[in-house]
Amino acid sequence: MDDVKAYYVTTPIYYVNDAPHLGHAYTTVASDVLARWHRQRGERVWFLTGTDEHGQKILRTAEANGVTPQDWADRLVDESWRPLWEHLEISNDDFIRTTQQRHTDRVQEFVQDLYDKGEIYKGGYEGPYCVHCEEYKLPGELIDGEGEFAGQKLCAIHRKPVEILSEENYFFKLSEYGDKLLAHYAAHPDFIQPESARNEVVNFVRQGLQDLSISRSTFDWGVPVPWDPQHVIYVWVDALLNYATAVGYNENQEKFEATFPADVHLVGKDILRFHAVIWPAMLMAQGLPLPGKIAANGWLMVGGEKMSKSNLTGIKPQDLTSHFGVDAYRWYFLRAIAFGQDGSFSWEDFTARYTSELANDYGNLASRVAAMVGRYFDGALPEATADGEAEQAIREGLVKAVTEADHRIGDALDFQGGILAVFDFVKQVNGYLTEQEPWKVAKDPSPEARARLATILCTAAESLRAVAVLLNPLMPETSRKLWDSLGAEPSLGALADQRVQEAAEWGKLPAGSTITKGAVLFPRLEEKPTA
Ligand code: ME8
Ligand code: MG
Repeated sequence: MDDVKAYYVTTPIYYVNDAPHLGHAYTTVASDVLARWHRQRGERVWFLTGTDEHGQKILRTAEANGVTPQDWADRLVDESWRPLWEHLEISNDDFIRTTQQRHTDRVQEFVQDLYDKGEIYKGGYEGPYCVHCEEYKLPGELIDGEGEFAGQKLCAIHRKPVEILSEENYFFKLSEYGDKLLAHYAAHPDFIQPESARNEVVNFVRQGLQDLSISRSTFDWGVPVPWDPQHVIYVWVDALLNYATAVGYNENQEKFEATFPADVHLVGKDILRFHAVIWPAMLMAQGLPLPGKIAANGWLMVGGEKMSKSNLTGIKPQDLTSHFGVDAYRWYFLRAIAFGQDGSFSWEDFTARYTSELANDYGNLASRVAAMVGRYFDGALPEATADGEAEQAIREGLVKAVTEADHRIGDALDFQGGILAVFDFVKQVNGYLTEQEPWKVAKDPSPEARARLATILCTAAESLRAVAVLLNPLMPETSRKLWDSLGAEPSLGALADQRVQEAAEWGKLPAGSTITKGAVLFPRLEEKPTA
C-alpha cells in the first residue's frame, strides 16, 4: 500500500426505496468529476458510493410491494442503481451496501465501543418523526399542512405529515459535543461549504444540541444493537459509518490509515446536519480524525420545490442521456448551476446550451481543425515555425485556463467556474481562427504563407490537446474521441496519464502526428421527444 494517504471522495449512500433520479445523479456526477480531476493530477484517489438499505422507509416500501426488504434492495441495486452509475461512467472504486456483513459487523463494533466508553445511555423519547428524512424533528422545524394535509404538521423538506413516535431508546450524548464542534468549525473555515451551509450549521449548533436517539425498537429492519438485540441501530448512525467501514475500519488497519478520513463528503443540503454535526461528533467520541470538508450541493428544483421521487417531472436521467448523450448530461448540470445553489432543469435551456457551447463552440472547433489539417497537410500535423503575438496570446490564455480550472474544480469545488475557464479558452481559440483565417492563408502558395498556415493549425491542434486533458474528468467519452482524432496516443500516451498541471506546457503534440476527422463530438439534436 502506498504510504501517501489517498484523496478520498464520497457520495451519500442513497436509499433504495426507489430508482435513482436526476437529484441523485447530480451529486454522483459532481463527485465523479472531482475524483477524476484528482486522478488526472496524478494523485491516488479513493472514490466511494453505495446504498443505504435499512430503516423504516425501505421496510415499508418492500412490504407495500410484497417482498422482503433484502429482496427489494437487491433488485433495486442490481437493476437500477449500479446500471445507472455504469451508464453515466461513474468511476467509483467501491460500492458499499449497508446490508453487507463487512459493514454490519463493523457498525456493531463501533456502537458497542461507544457504549463501553459511556457515550450511550438508555432513555425515552416522544416526538414528531419524518420517515422520509428518517429523523426526529423539533416542533419549530415543522410547517402547517394545507389541502389534503390541513390540520396536520408536515416535514418542511418533504411536505408530508410527520408521525408522533414514542419509544424507549438508546441515546448518544451528542449534547456534549456542541462546543467541540463549534471550535472545529472555527479552526477550519472550509469544513462546511458553501458559506450559507456553514452559517446554517453554526447557528443550529449554537442553539444547543439534544442527545441523539440511536436505536429503534418498533421494527427490526436494521443492524441489531449488540448488547440489546430487541433494538436496531438508528439508520443514520448505520449509514454514516459506511464512510469508515468501506475503507477497512476495525478490519484492515493499513487500508484504513491510507484512506480515512474523507477529504470531501459531497452531500445534498437536505442531509448536511447529519454530516456536519452528527458524523463529526461520532468520530470525536471515538478519537478518530474528522473529514476535510462537507460540501453541500443545492437542490434541483421543479415547480418551486425540491425535486423528489414524487414530483420528478417524470424525466429520468436516461431520458436525457438518450437525447443529449452521456457527456453532455455530465456537463450540463455542473455548467448551468453554481454548485451549492438551487437550480432548475429545462429542456429549452439544455438544448440552447448544448447547441451553442458544446456543438458550435467546442465540437466545431475540433472538427474544423481536423478537417483543415487533412485538407492542407494530408492529415500530418506540420511544424510551427512562424510564431507571433497571436500565438503568444493563446499560450497565455491556456496557462490561465489551466490554473483557474485546476483551482476551481480540484480545490474549490466550483465546477461551474472551472468549466467556464476551459470554455472561455475554447472561445479564445475560435476567435483566433476567425482572425487568422487559415482558409485564406491556404490560398497563398508562398513558403511564408505555408509556414503561417502550419503555425495556425499547430496552435489550434495543440490547444485542443490541452482541452482534451482538461475536459477528460467531465466528459470522458468526447475527450477520448478527441484524443484519437488528434493522433496523440502514440507520442503522448494514454489520456488518463496526462497531468493537469502539465496541460499548459506548450508543444507537446509533435509534428507528424496523424490527425483524422473522427466521430462528431456533439451531433445535432433530434427533435425533442414528446412525452
Ligand atoms: O438521504 N437536488 O438518501 P437519499 C439535488 N440515505 N440533490 C438531490 C436531490 C435534488 N432534488 N434529491 C436527492 C439519503 N439529491 C441517505 C443518505 S449518507 C450517509 C445517507 C441527492 O436517497 C443529494 O445528494 O434521500 C441528497 O443529499 C441525496 O441525493 C439524498 O439521497
Ligand atoms: Mg431523501
